[in-house]
Amino acid sequence: MPTIHIIEYNGTEHEVEAQNGESLMLAAVKQMIDGIDADCGGSCSCGTCHVFVDPAWMANVGEADEYEEPMLDMNPERQAGSRLSCQITVNDTLDGLVVRLPRSQF
Ligand code: FES
Repeated sequence: MPTIHIIEYNGTEHEVEAQNGESLMLAAVKQMIDGIDADCGGSCSCGTCHVFVDPAWMANVGEADEYEEPMLDMNPERQAGSRLSCQITVNDTLDGLVVRLPRSQF
C-alpha cells in the first residue's frame, strides 16, 4: 500500500496510506486532509484538489492530460509541478510521493 506525504501550506505533514488504483484526491479525502476539498468529486472541473508535486517525483507522476491542462491554466497559483490530485492514480511507483498544498487551500 503506497504511502503519500501531503504537506499543508502551514507545513503540517500527513502520511496517507493509499490504495493502488484510487486517486490521490480520494485517498486524501478519506483521511480528511485539510486543503483537499474536491468540490466536484473528482471530475476534473473544480480545481480544489490542486497539489504541487515534488520535483523529484514528476517523472513518476507524469504530466497533466488535455482535460486537466485547461483547469490548471485557470489557476493563478499554478507552478511547475502543479497537478490536480483527482487525476493522479496511485500505484506502487508512487510509494513515498511528496506533494505540497497551495496557499489558497489552507
Ligand atoms: S476534485 Fe475537482 S478537479 Fe479534482
